[in-house]
Amino acid sequence: MCGIVGYIGNKKAGPILINGLLRLEYRGYDSAGIATIENDNIKVMKNKGRVNNLYELDGINNLVGTIGIAHTRWATHGKPSKENSHPHMDNSNSFAVVHNGIIENYHELKTFLIEKGYKFVSSTDTEVIPNLIHYYFSQDKLNDDKKVLRAVKNTCNSLKGSYAIEILSKYNKDKMIVTRKDNPLVIGKGNGENYISSDIPAILSYTKDFYLLDDNEIVELSRDDVKFYNKELRSIKKQVKSIEWGALSAEKDGYDDFMLKEIYEQPKAIRETVGAKLDNGHIEIDGLEITKEYLESINKIYIVACGTAMHAGVATKSIFERLCKIPVEVDIASEFRYRNPLIDEKTLTIYVSQSGETADTIAALKLAKLKGAKTLAISNVIGSSITREADYSIYTHAGPEIAVASTKAYTSQVVLLNILGMYFAEKLERVDRDIINKLKEDIFKLPTQVEEILKDTNRIHKFAKKVYKEKDMFFLGRGTDYAVSMEGSLKLKEISYIHSESYASGELKHGPIALIENGVTVIAIMTNSELVEKSISNVEEVITRGAKVFVITSEEIDNDEISEIIKIPKTNTFLSPILSVIPMQLFAYYISKEKGLDVDKPRNLAKSVTVE
Ligand code: AGP
Ligand code: GLU
Repeated sequence: MCGIVGYIGNKKAGPILINGLLRLEYRGYDSAGIATIENDNIKVMKNKGRVNNLYELDGINNLVGTIGIAHTRWATHGKPSKENSHPHMDNSNSFAVVHNGIIENYHELKTFLIEKGYKFVSSTDTEVIPNLIHYYFSQDKLNDDKKVLRAVKNTCNSLKGSYAIEILSKYNKDKMIVTRKDNPLVIGKGNGENYISSDIPAILSYTKDFYLLDDNEIVELSRDDVKFYNKELRSIKKQVKSIEWGALSAEKDGYDDFMLKEIYEQPKAIRETVGAKLDNGHIEIDGLEITKEYLESINKIYIVACGTAMHAGVATKSIFERLCKIPVEVDIASEFRYRNPLIDEKTLTIYVSQSGETADTIAALKLAKLKGAKTLAISNVIGSSITREADYSIYTHAGPEIAVASTKAYTSQVVLLNILGMYFAEKLERVDRDIINKLKEDIFKLPTQVEEILKDTNRIHKFAKKVYKEKDMFFLGRGTDYAVSMEGSLKLKEISYIHSESYASGELKHGPIALIENGVTVIAIMTNSELVEKSISNVEEVITRGAKVFVITSEEIDNDEISEIIKIPKTNTFLSPILSVIPMQLFAYYISKEKGLDVDKPRNLAKSVTVE
């Protein structure tokens, strides 16, 4: 889950590496470190804590090396500490390594190396890698220019687990080697210089030309060249891909935090996601060639994802069921992959992932593929791992999402899943065309409606100020309002550290109502006019027991006992999560700010969960 950066060129590597780490810090932030080559030796500098703590190190600003690797860690093995920070060196100080991922067989490898006389200074799984490289290097009797590459190849063959690694070697002072398996790594191609990063936004200000690595490929970078090899060290060719995102979209742009900026970017993200698929009312989805015959042959759809992306599935399940008449199951990727789900060639499986790098979601996709199901990935990142595994890949156009708590990716995913549902429905012709046409009209109105909500956020802020010291909160809703309440509750937990639960309003009295007492905060979402009466009754039940209620609604509600009512524009029930989630995102955001927390980098979390 960590962030990796690398540079080889003619400029000083230090500032470029730290700048890259700062942009990747949302991927891991318990320690950081860099290594450069200076005067024929590898120089490592690392520190516990945030990337900025690197500036506390003596000499950090005087590094002159023009080749270097860097890491910001999200610890999996060994507590956050200076010793456990990356880069890690081998015993002879000849190889420095940074690693993202988990080496599952590190115990076995460590025992083997200890028997050979190697000593270990950290408790990480990573430290076996530089020592293993050294071991294979020292066993190799051939002294040609591929000796380090061979040692890396042999090391990779011994590793089980997942990794993206960068290697510096004092035997090859003008080269750097990188490789990956199940963890992300991209190479940015410059002029007389090359960059490495865990993701594209971190180095967008340096280049727009990227090579995307596939699993098990080994790459040797020099200043003017990038050589690619397969796992047997046979040369392979790769095409450069130009990325259109502007560097600015990865900056805060005057906002206090990325999260706030991304909340405000939602009208644009929705507009662009809609615009790319719905031209003049006609649905065209790039990358999707699904026939009517195939759709008629499927008897089930699975939507599989994690966290917020999974909530986008829950919020859109009903469009596929109602407009396509196909049953849909939404599953958590980490459950799906281990529960032997009933799938075959008649099942369509859809995977939703902002980053496209989530380990559980990718594993779930691979499993479904093995069972013969078709796989469709929805991602925000072109060329991400999941899109390279899937039969079909389609994209949200939210632009880079940096804050750990997902906002604009969620609304774009809900929009795209709705468009996908409509696209299937048009082909299947199982419902009246007018229903789909009306939905299209409503989709086009969304960006302006979101702008309207964002225009006045004072009341949301005021309510957040009133309740930010509380320990527990409840989110209630029915139908799609319940689906979106799960996302509201997750946002609150992630960035404000307040415990919260989401419940289907009608389910409350079957148990959880026992927790409602004087002063407890309840957030109720009511956007469905057919269910509003029933939802109000549920709200009355909690008010009677002393709860403070915050209502988000598109209906006219007149009730003095409700503490705060936030009115949002009216839209189609299928689309309501896109509007009702916005006040909940802001509510979580303001609470986090009131508590003085780091909104963009909440404790224990990382943006891209590339480990199981
Ligand atoms: C969202 O706020 C979370 N940080 C998290 O639940 C996230 O949505 C999840 O890890 C899935 O990520 P992905 O979309 O990149 O696969
Ligand atoms: N498993 C390694 C460690 O705990 C790498 C973790 C990471 O990806 O940051 O140091």
